[in-house]
Amino acid sequence: MEELRVKRRIVLVPVPAQGHVTPIMQLGKALYSKGFSITVVLTQYNRVSSSKDFSDFHFLTIPGSLTESDLKNLGPFKFLFKLNQICEAGFKQCIGQLLQEQGNDIACVVYDEYMYFSQAAVKEFQLPSVLFSTTSATAFVCRSVLSRVDAESFLLDMKDPKVSDKVFPGLHPLRYKDLPTSAFGPIESILNVYSETVNIRTASAVIINSTSCLENSSLAWLQRELQVPVYPIGPLHIAASAPSSLLEEDRSCIEWLNKQKLGSVIYISLGSLALMETKDMLEMAWGLSNSNQPFLWVIRPGSIPGSEWTESLTEEFSRLVSERGYIVKWAPQMDVLRHPAVGGFWSHCGWNSTLESIGEGVPMICRPFTGDQKVNARYLERVWRIGVQLEGALDKGTVERAVERLIVDEEGAEMRKRAINLKEKLEASVRSGGSSCSSLDNFVNSLKMKNFM
Ligand code: UDX
Repeated sequence: MEELRVKRRIVLVPVPAQGHVTPIMQLGKALYSKGFSITVVLTQYNRVSSSKDFSDFHFLTIPGSLTESDLKNLGPFKFLFKLNQICEAGFKQCIGQLLQEQGNDIACVVYDEYMYFSQAAVKEFQLPSVLFSTTSATAFVCRSVLSRVDAESFLLDMKDPKVSDKVFPGLHPLRYKDLPTSAFGPIESILNVYSETVNIRTASAVIINSTSCLENSSLAWLQRELQVPVYPIGPLHIAASAPSSLLEEDRSCIEWLNKQKLGSVIYISLGSLALMETKDMLEMAWGLSNSNQPFLWVIRPGSIPGSEWTESLTEEFSRLVSERGYIVKWAPQMDVLRHPAVGGFWSHCGWNSTLESIGEGVPMICRPFTGDQKVNARYLERVWRIGVQLEGALDKGTVERAVERLIVDEEGAEMRKRAINLKEKLEASVRSGGSSCSSLDNFVNSLKMKNFM
């Protein structure tokens, strides 16, 4: 096949949220290292800083897109839906301008699955496009399945405890209640968004931030159903480092970790979107205190509805744990997870946190909040067997017991062994000759072929 040597620009379209920005910028770095020039098209909200880490990238902003106050007023799902309506015209304008200024040097537009508005411009200018999934392959399978269910009867099933505890047909070991429904909106609007995200339209391929050693059967399912090549090239955080924290990292926690015993600390973080009721936070605080294990706790300002930050923690708790606990607003998570003092990760099980924890061989306490996190939590506990899932109401006794199981008991040591084994497999998959490394090479080669579209 004839090679096209001139088209070396890749346009990236990230969702303006931490969990999506991080992997797409890592993908940008991976593709840059293969010789492509990278243009990142941003919305006005949550701009990725064009810091020194990305000084070789070119940044454009879609005119007239939504702002931070729109996200607060609308909530994530309505925000995404509206963002897709609003950005369509502005994105066409951006691409038109790019083509005018640079000539048509665009090898392809890689858009986050939730930024499906990109397809209108791609169609108009007849550009190749690729859908990038920042969640797990299994979550993608679930969204595909959910996009075909009848919303009304699915809702009835979910409300019936006898059904919601059952394994969903064809998705073992996921139960109805593990499917990626969302705390952020009514089922109908979620299913509508899912139908849009799994509709690949004219995309020529799908890239997934996952790897076959974690999700072989889900990847095979997608490869069968989607009828375009599926490239699992993850975990991207191992393949290509791209620091892209949208919040300021408090590095003082690393000094604190330096003073703790090997494998003794439980690290707690619920990512960039999850919320926690005051009642649950207090149960957690007392459970941690009673566990007698040291803990590093990220409490993101605004993550406890009705509180600015930690004011609902009592003075008594603060006094009790001042020796043993450390609380920050945002941590350098990768450095924390690879610190030898960290023995376990209490997580909401966002896909990035899941990959990062497995990538450091750290077992997890899984307390999913919404969406794909429930899928990941079930896989952590039942498929990879490196996590303890906490379900139902949270009380201090359950928290204390979970920390003991993970950090102190033999059960935790077994989970750690399995996590380290998976860590080695992940590292091998992104090394030369590994499945993800080859998959990235295959994708890059496909871009050079004239018939890519
Ligand atoms: C969301 C969804 O929850 C997730 O499941 C989906 O796959 C992407 O969008 P988020 O909730 O932010 O993401 O979780 P996660 O995917 O885990 O991403 C959080 C990122 O923030 C991670 O890369 C993590 O390293 C980083 N982080 C988190 C920090 O750097 N510091 C912190 O204190 C907490």
